Amino acid sequence: MKGLILSGGAGTRLRPITHTSAKQLVPIANKPILFYGIEDMAAAGIVDIGIIIAPATGDEIREHVGDGSQFGVRVTWIVQDEPLGLAHCVLIARDFLGDDDFVMYLGDNMLEQGLTEFVEQFEGARHAATEPRLGEDHAAPAAQILLATVDDPTAFGVAEIGPDGEVVQLVEKPKVPPSDLALVGVYLFDSTIHTAVASIEPSPRGELEITDAIQWLVANGHRVNHEVLVGWWIDTGKKDPLLECNRLVLDTLKRRIEGEIDADSMVDGRVVIEAGVKIVNSTIRGPAVIGAGTIIEDSYVGPYSSIAIGCRIIRSEIDNSVLLRRSAVTDIPRLTDSLVGRDTEITKGDARPRATRVMLGDHCHVVIE
Ligand code: DAU
Repeated sequence: MKGLILSGGAGTRLRPITHTSAKQLVPIANKPILFYGIEDMAAAGIVDIGIIIAPATGDEIREHVGDGSQFGVRVTWIVQDEPLGLAHCVLIARDFLGDDDFVMYLGDNMLEQGLTEFVEQFEGARHAATEPRLGEDHAAPAAQILLATVDDPTAFGVAEIGPDGEVVQLVEKPKVPPSDLALVGVYLFDSTIHTAVASIEPSPRGELEITDAIQWLVANGHRVNHEVLVGWWIDTGKKDPLLECNRLVLDTLKRRIEGEIDADSMVDGRVVIEAGVKIVNSTIRGPAVIGAGTIIEDSYVGPYSSIAIGCRIIRSEIDNSVLLRRSAVTDIPRLTDSLVGRDTEITKGDARPRATRVMLGDHCHVVIE
């Protein structure tokens, strides 16, 4: 079985962070989102992985992932010139995929449950079917999808399941959803999907939808199995779900202290403090992770904070936030529920007239107390 990770796309919902960087590289507990997907594949025994990248952000992703050996996998890079849809990714990965079964994983999705069980179920069902006779119960599945119950199905692909547990209909971001079962961004396919992606037309949003390709499989008599997800799943493509995901991952943290903590500081609970960190006259209350080389002085870093490498937090209080590398927060009484990009400074000034002064990039969002 091969793996296909989709790490292209435009990342519009995480602007301005994604003006300069790929959304799949935004860190969760100081590790890029994409790495969790690669690690899950490796844990499921999938070592041949194709990664779809966009021209604008592909080089940065390549630099981070390298040849895959740090994860024990082999990576093949596939450049998608334009974000023409998830099924388009399958289309352009044809040479890499050949006729092998594969797992397709959306690079901005994270799930608590690993892939192993899901992959074993698909392979088990395919081996159990001695010959794939269409329409019969013992036919080999051409695909297996993963579903999760969500509050707002209109934001996802949605599946309708029939009385015998069969997938009867799939529709992408429906205005009137047929159920509350959303498609999670992990799919298993055999080579029939190549006929499906070549047979569908672009959707109203101009994309070749994988949901339509799976619907094509159903409509053409191929069996599509489904599993309902156990554990949490988050599409991290927006700020609040990303912070929620950060909280869930930080909750699994094991305490590890490598940096320097002075006698006037207190470090409480599940906290990772990496080498080269300096904590002076401050309180760190976990779960939290502080990246290498960060300096925290006269400050409080509270639960669910991920502070990347090389940051400075001085006379400030922070919680439930993700700070990307080399950011600085100075004299800020309380920063909460925030995602702060790389090399960003947030500070309090004494200049008169007293006012808020900003230099913000495009598509920023600021809430002032
Ligand atoms: O998160 C689950 C949802 O993902 C499913 O419920 C939907 O059925 C599915 O269409 C997808 O919806 P999104 O609108 O959230 O997909 P998004 O555009 O965020 O793309 C998902 C990933 O695929 C992301 O890492 C970017 C990458 N991508 C996307 C497109 C459109 C590509 O690599 N190339 C593309 O052309």
